[in-house]
Amino acid sequence: MKVDVLLGLQWGDEGKGKIVDVLTPKYDVIARFQGGPNAGHSLEFGEIKHVLHTIPSGIFHDDQVNIIGNGVVIDPIIFKTEIDEIKKLGVDLHEKLLISKKAHLILPTHRMLDAASEAAKGTTKIGSTLKGIGPTYMDKTGRNGLRVGDIIEPGFRKKFEFLKAKHKDILDQYDFDYTIDQYEEEWWKGIEVLKSYKLVESEYVLNSFLSENKSILAEGAQGTMLDIDFGSYPYVTSSNTICAGACTGLGIAPGKIGEVFGIFKAYCTRVGSGPFPTELSDKTGETLREQGREYGATTGRPRRCGWLDLTALKYSIMINGVTQLIMTKADVLSGFEKIKVCTSYKTSEGTLDMMPFTINETLEPIYTELPAWSEDISEISDKKDLPKELLDYIRFIEDSVKIRIKIVSVGPKRKATIYF
Ligand code: GDP
Ligand code: IMO
Ligand code: MG
Repeated sequence: MKVDVLLGLQWGDEGKGKIVDVLTPKYDVIARFQGGPNAGHSLEFGEIKHVLHTIPSGIFHDDQVNIIGNGVVIDPIIFKTEIDEIKKLGVDLHEKLLISKKAHLILPTHRMLDAASEAAKGTTKIGSTLKGIGPTYMDKTGRNGLRVGDIIEPGFRKKFEFLKAKHKDILDQYDFDYTIDQYEEEWWKGIEVLKSYKLVESEYVLNSFLSENKSILAEGAQGTMLDIDFGSYPYVTSSNTICAGACTGLGIAPGKIGEVFGIFKAYCTRVGSGPFPTELSDKTGETLREQGREYGATTGRPRRCGWLDLTALKYSIMINGVTQLIMTKADVLSGFEKIKVCTSYKTSEGTLDMMPFTINETLEPIYTELPAWSEDISEISDKKDLPKELLDYIRFIEDSVKIRIKIVSVGPKRKATIYF
């Protein structure tokens, strides 16, 4: 068996949580490979609406093992809150959740460093979720970080105090007021909760599952345009959100990757700062935001909205080696007079169908207009009942990017999923 990977092709919030939950019954194992509580993955089924941050989106099914991989960064405070919320729904994760000992820990001071760094940047701020993601990955690559496995080793408190003191020295260089005492108390409670779960060498666990012919789905967070190497740097997150991130974030060899599911919205959104060529700052953008309920699942911030960008999509497909596409939020486009799709950019040097090194306001999208449809499609379950205009839109995208769209999502709930 191989490891299938599901990841976002845009700027995050493509609907990864919903689709992982929908696909989970086909798999034995669901494994998150990067990011941390900057992610907000929403799941809706029955009467339940739930947002997950660190915990994989397969946990609401009974028979699957869920793994938090070594590429993930964990804030024990947020982890404890997530566990408490899930417990309220009658789900106990002690048996079905495994956590990599090599996953890094977000300290209270990492969050302070994130906030201090953003405040100091002023108008050039990244628009971080302020969960401490950047500083934690910096400590990981700087070889200063604390890992989940450290919490059960002797001398952990000493290591914690050492890193905290280092962070305080850095914080002193900022003009930034902070208190962490209360956070710290909560953090240590979170550490106790973490200790009560199965802390494992997840790379061995995953590779043993593979040799036993078990099927694995790797769940990404954020999106390709937020990737630390290939996203719109520096307005990105601090991990590799792309397919290669599943190899490093889980300990899976490249040759063991199977299908790569690339998920995208039928339009585009972005939350936080940074370039967004097809952004609409007009009434149409507002309509997309309202119809799509485009408010951040982690921060509640309004998401910036715009038309689908095929040049960016083709770039993401190339970087990830996408084998199947999944399009979400098709229902949100119902009722628009027409739909626009960006097929290339106009620059001072001519037409460009690639992502340039510098993406700024001089990059002007060139649009193709397609007819829209007026009917509500959110109750449709068979592709033959979809409006012709939507089928034409799907075909137009497939012809442009040369990959088939295998799933179209028409609502937030599990059942609002159409297979092609
Ligand atoms: P993720 O971070 O990729 O998991 O996506 P988020 O959960 O942050 O954001 C996606 C939002 O769209 C959530 O509120 C989902 O419930 C919702 N959603 C997912 N798929 C669809 C869809 O096909 N139609 C509509 N209207 N909403 C959807
Ligand atoms: P999911 O998994 C959308 C954005 C932030 C900011 C930038 C850096 O739900 O799709 P960070 O907190 O990582 O330092 O923020 O990345 N960002 C996301 N945007 N969805 C996410 O996750 C995001 N995680 C981070 O808004 O612009
Ligand atoms: Mg999200």
